[in-house]
Amino acid sequence: MSLIKTVLLIHGPNLNLLGQREPDVYGAATLSEHIKTTQDALAKQGASLQSLQSNSEAQIVDAIHEARGSVDAIIINPGAFTHYSWAIHDALKSFSGPIVEVHLSNPAARETFRHTSVVAPVAIGTIAGFGGHGYELAVQALFRHGQ
Ligand code: DQA
Repeated sequence: MSLIKTVLLIHGPNLNLLGQREPDVYGAATLSEHIKTTQDALAKQGASLQSLQSNSEAQIVDAIHEARGSVDAIIINPGAFTHYSWAIHDALKSFSGPIVEVHLSNPAARETFRHTSVVAPVAIGTIAGFGGHGYELAVQALFRHGQ
């Protein structure tokens, strides 16, 4: 029996536009479709999903604080905050459960400013470059981690 019962899925700025924004880079699927993929993958593991997308760093920091003690794990695609938000880094550091970082694209193969992640050091691992399949992989990674 897994101890992970509730997972918070966080999406950062501009990811509300998925499906419309640079579909050649991020794919045609919408944010709702990625949330459903994650929810279905979690349901197979007997876990439930909470989901937040925000374009505001403060709102994401607040959601991570609220997750302390109420959520067992976090899956986060921080969008561009990945590359510079030490506030999100610090908030995630205050969360004691496992954290998986997800990117639809492969930032390492893109512009230089995307090569740094300030979230990666506080995650158990990063899944990048597999499009929406990355969310299913993130759920698998969470549940296999520490088994
Ligand atoms: C992204 C990669 C980031 O560099 C970018 O700013 C995004 C999306 C991804 O999922 O590939 O908004 O996180």
